[in-house]
Amino acid sequence: MKVIDAATAAESPEDVLWVGTSWKMNKGLADARAYIRGLTDYLSRTRLPGVQPFVIPSFTALTTARDELGSEATILLGVQNAHWDDAGAWTGEVSVAQAKDAGARIVEIGHSERREHFGETVETTRLKVSAALDHGLIPLLCIGESAEVKSAGKTSEFILEQAAGALSGLTAEQLGSVLIAYEPIWAIGEHGRPATVEEMLPPFADLGRQYGGSTRGLLYGGSVNVDNARDMLSIDHVTGLFVGRTAWQLRGYQQILEIAAAHPKANR
Ligand code: PGA
Repeated sequence: MKVIDAATAAESPEDVLWVGTSWKMNKGLADARAYIRGLTDYLSRTRLPGVQPFVIPSFTALTTARDELGSEATILLGVQNAHWDDAGAWTGEVSVAQAKDAGARIVEIGHSERREHFGETVETTRLKVSAALDHGLIPLLCIGESAEVKSAGKTSEFILEQAAGALSGLTAEQLGSVLIAYEPIWAIGEHGRPATVEEMLPPFADLGRQYGGSTRGLLYGGSVNVDNARDMLSIDHVTGLFVGRTAWQLRGYQQILEIAAAHPKANR
C-alpha cells in the first residue's frame, strides 16, 4: 500500500483507504487556513501508509486551502457540489470546470442534505458524475436511505437504485474513478446515530457485490468518531470513511487518519 498524490490519484486503483472530511457550511478563511496549515504540518511529520486524506471545504475556502497546501500533494481537495454545465446562465452555481480551476480534485455529489433541501435528483447526480469524469475529477457519490426506507426493509433496493441511476452509462474505466460513500440519512449529523456493524453488513455486502473492486472505493459516512472508526473500517468492502463533525476539529481528523493507518486494511 502506498500514499498517492494528486497527480497519480486519478490512475490509482482501489488500494488505499480514503479518509476525508467535508466541512459543510463551516469555517471562514482564517479557520480554513489554520486547519490546512496544521494538517500539512502534521502530515510532514507523520507517515500514514495506505491512507489517502481528502478535505472538502466550502467554495469560499477552496483557493485558500489550495494555497496553504502549496506543494503538499498528499491531500486532495474537493467541492461539496458542482454544476454539470461548464459555464453559462446558472446563477449561484459553480461548475466542475471552475472547481477544478480553483484546485478541486474531488466532486462530492448527491449528499442527502443536497437531495433533501436543494432538489438533487438521481438524474442531476448522473449529470454531475459525468461532468466530473469529463474533467478528470473524482466523483464522490453519496447514497443513503431514510429511516422510513430502512424500517420498510428497502435499504438495499433504494441505495442500489440511487447508485445505478447516477452511474448509468459509464465505461468500466470511468466507473473505476468513482468513489461511493454510503451514508444512511438517519446516521448523519447531530440528530443521527452511527450505524451498528450489524446494520452496515447487508448494505456493504450488496454494494460490494455490485461495485467492490470496480470502483475506486466504498466509504462509510454518518457519525463516524474515534470510538467507532476502527469497527467501521473492518466491515467487508469498506475502503474508507467520510467524516463530518468529528473531523471539523483538526485533532479529530488526525485521530481518524491514525486509526485508518493502523488498520490492517491499510497495510495489505
Ligand atoms: P457527520 O456527517 O459525520 O457529522 O454525521 C457525515 C456526513 O454528512 O457526511
